[in-house]
Amino acid sequence: MTGGRFVRLNPFVANNARVFDYVTGGKDNYDADREAADWLMSAHPQLPRDFTKAQEFTRRAVRWLGRTGIDQFADLGTGIPRQPYLHEYAPGSRWAYVDNDLVVAAHAQALLQLGDGSQVVLADFTEADRLFEKLGHVLDLARPIGVVLGSVLDFLAKPAQLVEALTDRLTPGSHLVISHAASDIWPERSDALERTFNERARMELFPRSSEELRSLLAGWTVVAPGIMGVDRWQAPDMEPGDGRDIASEPLDPVIYHGVTARL
Ligand SMILES: C[S@@+](CC[C@H](N)C(=O)[O-])C[C@H]1O[C@@H](n2cnc3c(N)ncnc32)[C@H](O)[C@@H]1O
Repeated sequence: MTGGRFVRLNPFVANNARVFDYVTGGKDNYDADREAADWLMSAHPQLPRDFTKAQEFTRRAVRWLGRTGIDQFADLGTGIPRQPYLHEYAPGSRWAYVDNDLVVAAHAQALLQLGDGSQVVLADFTEADRLFEKLGHVLDLARPIGVVLGSVLDFLAKPAQLVEALTDRLTPGSHLVISHAASDIWPERSDALERTFNERARMELFPRSSEELRSLLAGWTVVAPGIMGVDRWQAPDMEPGDGRDIASEPLDPVIYHGVTARL
């Protein structure tokens, strides 16, 4: 994952956001992205399902946070947006969709058609001062914010820096919605996934164990039902119909999902 500044278009090098786009059935990608993604999927045929399930989890979590009264969100590392868009799950909420990739930001701007003060924010989330300055133009930093971290911490060698910045600067009542590659659910698969990402797609992936995630999120309280490796995360106050996108049989994904709260 890019450590600093903005990412410009280079169609000849596989790009994290466009590889995700291709794996989840999108059309905003180039040959280099498709080649890298095809490598990943030939080694890990379950990837499209796991990425799609991760996105479905995020939508369920946002819908629940919206119901609990959170009305402002920051999606850090938005990627190329796919319908239905996250803000649709929390009607009336204000969003900052943040990415440091100029192509992602342009797509997001065109696709999301935001109103009511929501914005696409071009920012590097590893530069906390600048990130929060920009977020402050869109969101009220004195009130709780729902922060979506969908498949971003696992591309950071030192995710603690970002989590610490969020812990220090977000007001109590804020929540993190997290999807993160697991190293200890199916260790052989995670090892192979890490190797394929790092060697074939030239994107450093850092799957982590539940223990590592617990310590990374030590300043946060995990919301029931917990950080889970199965496709089972349900909102604590699930309403009829909320679980329609949850598989009836447990799956064997290689991604952890969970929500944490800042008390
Ligand atoms: C793997 S994609 C995840 C997309 C989306 N969150 C999802 O769950 O499908 C990671 C995204 O994070 C963005 N990104 C990577 N490093 C970043 C940084 N330092 N600052 C802001 N965005 C970054 C990439 O451009 C990419 O769009």
